[in-house]
Amino acid sequence: MKETVLVTGGAGFIGSHTAVELVEAGFDVVIVDNLSNAEMAAVESVRKITGADIPFEKVDCCDRAAFEEVFKKYKFNSVIHFAASKAVGESVAEPLKYYGNNLGSFVNVLSLMKQYGVENVVFSSSATVYGQPDTLPATEQTPRKPATSPYGNTKQICEDILRDSVAAYEGIKGIALRYFNPIGAHPSALIGELPKGVPNNLVPFITQTAAGIRKELSVFGDDYNTPDGSCLRDYIDVVDLAKAHVVAVTRMVKNSGKSRFEIFNIGTGKPTSVLELVNAFERVNGVKVPHKIVGRRPGDVEAVWADTTLANNELGWKAVRSLDETLASAWAWEKHIRNIQ
Ligand code: WQD
Repeated sequence: MKETVLVTGGAGFIGSHTAVELVEAGFDVVIVDNLSNAEMAAVESVRKITGADIPFEKVDCCDRAAFEEVFKKYKFNSVIHFAASKAVGESVAEPLKYYGNNLGSFVNVLSLMKQYGVENVVFSSSATVYGQPDTLPATEQTPRKPATSPYGNTKQICEDILRDSVAAYEGIKGIALRYFNPIGAHPSALIGELPKGVPNNLVPFITQTAAGIRKELSVFGDDYNTPDGSCLRDYIDVVDLAKAHVVAVTRMVKNSGKSRFEIFNIGTGKPTSVLELVNAFERVNGVKVPHKIVGRRPGDVEAVWADTTLANNELGWKAVRSLDETLASAWAWEKHIRNIQ
């Protein structure tokens, strides 16, 4: 019998790509999303890409009663929990929204799993838990640093909630995936990142600048202690990242984990600077990205990239799409949504 996976936040950027990869790997998928930061069109596109009649429930995971109906209606043994608020700056201005949404929804996921005998959960964590690591690349053993935003704090707390729940409830297994910087879009250009308003993240700002929606990109700082002075990050292709979720669910379904709670870094293992990324985007896509150097952005870390040895060896997962392919896909998606030829 086919395994079914509940994907919360499945209309969002990473959730929609993961839904596609799950179906293509032979899973059935149920998508839950409150559409607060996503569009129904993404669900339609996931159906189109996969040809699968994927059920969708417009539900807020914080609404326990409504969310419980999903657990009653569908039979599934695994959950991938993406649904969360994710804007770092907004989390500083509205901490209660972030603690309420991100902790509340995850507590509901786990307590409903316990109540309905659902065994497996993948949690979307983030490299933000490392802050500025003392040594690079960051391994899963690299100590977490105190969070610098409520958003980052919710990722740390949710990891702890998962660890403690797995320890206490024998029926539950969990994997936390620490994403580095997810970018790019599906090769079909039918799904991708759709930020509301002015993008905070680098690649959506680049694609919107190339499309003429933004006048110029501000490069936040060129006086860091890095080869070209701009910050270093580990940019991971969203399709590669989506596949990591398929591998993580499969590992729990097959009971092949080393322990019932595991954490994996999901990145490429390669640092790329902001200026390198801008130059690569221009070269690969043959478009100009007007940019100027401005001061540092408060809260930015200088450099962080992943040691992916554990994911490579234990999950048998590795990032395979090149940065060039990924940047081409990001531009193809931007052109698709803006009707640019
Ligand atoms: C990348 C680099 C900027 C915009 C954040 C969150 C993290 C995760 C992903 C997700 C940095 C520089 C950016 C711009 C720039 N959260 N930059 N001009 O800060 O590494 O991570 O997003 O949901 O938790 O902290 O990603 O894309 O914002 O920045 O120069 O207009 O690009 O300074 O060096 P970041 P980012």
